[in-house]
Amino acid sequence: MCGIVGYLGTKNASEVIVDGLSKLEYRGYDSAGVAVCNDGELEIRKFKGRLAVLAEDIEKNEMKGHLGIGHTRWATHGEPSDVNSHPHFNKDKTIAVVHNGIIENYMELKEELKEDGVEFRSETDTEVIAHLVDKYYEGNLLDAVYKTVARLRGAYALGVICKDNEDELVAVRKDSPLIAGVGEGENFIASDIPALLKYTRKVYFLENGEVVHIKGNELKIYDSERNPVEKEIYDVKWDIEAASKGGYDCFMLKEINEQPEGVKNTLERRIDENGNIVLDGIHLTKEDLDNINRIYIVACGTAYHAGLLGKNALEKYLKVPVITDIASEFRYSDNFVDEHSLVILVSQSGETADTLAVLRDSKAKGAKILAITNVVGSSISREADEVFYTWAGPEIAVASTKAYTTQITSLYMIALNFALEKGTITREEYLETIEKMKELPEKIQSVLDNQDKIKETAEKIVSKEHVFFLGRGVDYSLAMEGSLKLKEVSYIHSEAFAAGELKHGTIALIEEGTPVISIATQENLFEKMVSNMQEVKARGAFVASIAQEHNRSVEKVSDEVIYIPNCDDMLVPIVAVVPMQLLAYYVSTMKGLDVDKPRNLAKSVTVE
Ligand code: F6R
Repeated sequence: MCGIVGYLGTKNASEVIVDGLSKLEYRGYDSAGVAVCNDGELEIRKFKGRLAVLAEDIEKNEMKGHLGIGHTRWATHGEPSDVNSHPHFNKDKTIAVVHNGIIENYMELKEELKEDGVEFRSETDTEVIAHLVDKYYEGNLLDAVYKTVARLRGAYALGVICKDNEDELVAVRKDSPLIAGVGEGENFIASDIPALLKYTRKVYFLENGEVVHIKGNELKIYDSERNPVEKEIYDVKWDIEAASKGGYDCFMLKEINEQPEGVKNTLERRIDENGNIVLDGIHLTKEDLDNINRIYIVACGTAYHAGLLGKNALEKYLKVPVITDIASEFRYSDNFVDEHSLVILVSQSGETADTLAVLRDSKAKGAKILAITNVVGSSISREADEVFYTWAGPEIAVASTKAYTTQITSLYMIALNFALEKGTITREEYLETIEKMKELPEKIQSVLDNQDKIKETAEKIVSKEHVFFLGRGVDYSLAMEGSLKLKEVSYIHSEAFAAGELKHGTIALIEEGTPVISIATQENLFEKMVSNMQEVKARGAFVASIAQEHNRSVEKVSDEVIYIPNCDDMLVPIVAVVPMQLLAYYVSTMKGLDVDKPRNLAKSVTVE
């Protein structure tokens, strides 16, 4: 996820672009850059760090010109650095490109361009686009962009300018968002509406394959076959504050809703032509895997809960015992990590102090370190031996949602590939599971589209002091996450219990009206779970269950049932967590709390 802005008009382009980018920083904030065309030259400035670094530089030393493109980055390929920042440009600095998305075939394009004598400066996938436009440019920028996108596989929203044409900007989208804005004597492109609201409320939403051609005062849109497209212009009615959250009232809700896309990006963009998952960033060979006799998954909070599910997947597919632990406990324990250990660290931010400390201790003991993180260039990503990125996009709300579902997806992908490499699953089972995983975004979307029952359940628990979450097996791990979500954003005391443990003490807490959220998604444990629900219900509990659609018998022991689409038992947590995230969100808003910034918490915990 990145943000792009482009401008052609009578104003100073760099000012409009920097202002627009400031409204898109939620899309990425590890580096930023601008290219403007002035007096037959392209001037490009780009810096690692927040947009403020770029803005300060431009303030000190003005950038002149009425045509420009800009970018705020969320790194996917190549760490955040000046050279990896956008805009990227060709050999002679005559063409500049900004890109939001991922080019899947950039390696093969890079090889081809290298054979043509191109020297690459950055580690990004985007740089190939600048060189390709250059390769195809014969005086007509629109032609060159069409020829270039015909070569690209993956997702992109592109803005392209050329020093020869001070009154021309070309933009195109496929699977990454892009809008075009129309002003008085000026036109714009951007990743999202907030970037343009100061200047215009009239925008076009572009469809996949559509190309925007801004030439002088005119803005035209073409389809992928180059036929002109007549589109209806949309009049934006929202204010800036609402728009930066994409119309949602808080980032947590926005991020919950981004999960179909996050899971899709993390998984599908890494499946090659043969249906195999490509674990980019992980280079462990069969020999390395054979040398590993113990796997640890270590993390904090929500990432730890994802790790618990990763343990299930690794044990099921790889047939190796896995220990999952909380980083703050693990680092001070006799953990037996040695050169035959693989330590998997899971961290959204890549900066969590305890997780980072485990990384350093384990590395010193000779273990192989594999990090799963969302932030390219974070400390954990830099110090780990192997890094796998969750492509969830920036997570702003303190309560983690889309990081969790993409972390589980990543752990499952790793487990599947390691197992295939070691021969502990068949290729058929491997491909079949990937096919089922591909259905996850749609299933999550179906939960997002059916929220009535979740809202009703939220109304029932909003005034309660205590809520309990019950589950068995995978559902117990899920119960822990549901409970954490609720307590951190609603301040209601909640606890997760292994349903089978109830009778050993906890059931004493159940009285008339005590809310119990029962998660019953697992086929092999379903009947046992129903018995446990019966036990709490008989003692007066208000039971709200989460179950797969086909398990209707859960209604006999529930006051409320939230159904989720039928799913493979192993994969179901990635769907079943969504109602619990929404439940926490609803309870928090019903209580009038600040959903995105719960008291006493911080997004990145860089102290022990
Ligand atoms: C809860 C939450 C935290 C984080 C934990 C680890 O919603 O967000 O529990 O999961 O602080 O953070 P990372 O993943 O950045 O290491």
